[in-house]
Amino acid sequence: MTDLVKLEQRQSLKEKPDQSSLTFGEVFTDYMLSFEYTEGQGWHDLKIVPYAPIEISPAAQSVHYGQSVFEGLKAYKHNGEVVLFRPEENFKRINVSLERLKMPRIDEDLLLEGLKQLVDVDRDWVPEGEGQSLYIRPVVFATEGILGVAPSKNYRLLIILSPSGSYYGGDSLRPTKIYVEDEYVRAVRGGVGFAKVAGNYAASLLAQANANALGFDQVLWLDGVEQKYVEEVGSMNIFFVINGKVVTPSLNGSILPGITRKTVLALAETLGYEVEERRVSIDELFEHYEKGELEEVFGTGTAAVISPVGELQFKDKKMVINNGETGKITQALYDNYTGIQSGKLDDPHNWRLVVPHYER
Ligand SMILES: Cc1ncc(COP(=O)(O)O)c(C=O)c1O
Repeated sequence: MTDLVKLEQRQSLKEKPDQSSLTFGEVFTDYMLSFEYTEGQGWHDLKIVPYAPIEISPAAQSVHYGQSVFEGLKAYKHNGEVVLFRPEENFKRINVSLERLKMPRIDEDLLLEGLKQLVDVDRDWVPEGEGQSLYIRPVVFATEGILGVAPSKNYRLLIILSPSGSYYGGDSLRPTKIYVEDEYVRAVRGGVGFAKVAGNYAASLLAQANANALGFDQVLWLDGVEQKYVEEVGSMNIFFVINGKVVTPSLNGSILPGITRKTVLALAETLGYEVEERRVSIDELFEHYEKGELEEVFGTGTAAVISPVGELQFKDKKMVINNGETGKITQALYDNYTGIQSGKLDDPHNWRLVVPHYER
């Protein structure tokens, strides 16, 4: 029998939100997972505790020097069961991120067991509506209260849970408007672009806000050296359908290796599409567009799922993709991906993991 992770009970449970009006990431469940690291002792005190504010030193290394990494995944409810989707991939990636910031690795199996037990305790919070899920946010941050740029001696991991609706609000297949960023860059090779580190997102906010002010949903980043090659969107990897072929930028060290990207590449092959991972320049995209060969564009990410792009603006040039409508291949990938996730379709790759009912 699996060891039970210690549970510190709440005095009373919180009121659950109205499921018909769920937004993204605003409401949190009753409990969170907590794990601590102390130099010399390693990771210790894995427990499920009430979701509540935490105390942190004003000198904590994460606050000053940004030693903080995170993950994002989802749990779904289908036919009464709660299911996680490829969670082991997220814990593999969190270790890649931790290593890049000189933070201590965590036992992936232990973390997955802790997550399953946390989600079991909070299973009544998993929403069941179309496009809804329990968003899962693991975060690890330095807690040592000492100034001076050096790796912290102490860390904390938390996993918090948020019942959520669609990322862009309303219809998850609403085609988005994307601004191709030509001034700022997100990441460079040799930097931290391939890791899910907090600072990457802080560095993206100014460009994102500028794009929002111009009426765009997100920014498409170009490479950090020549600003010529397409990398990824704010929180999604990017795909193009060119002459019927599914094309995405190859992982070059500055792009986040998305788990949805990996899943969609596998699904596209299964569905019989030709798939290509390679360098894609913005000029090449315009050339295909002029010839009518850029048939579809979509982003992939845990939060946004598979999100069609209806418009791409680069400097003073604009591409309207597929008349601003969701394309056939985008739709087919979306239907298959969400079908497997929710349990409506078979899962030949064993991507779904049913959360057990633990006896407490
Ligand atoms: C910068 C960035 N790129 C891509 C992705 C997509 O990754 P995944 O499919 O693992 O959610 C995300 C979201 O996590 C992201 O933040």
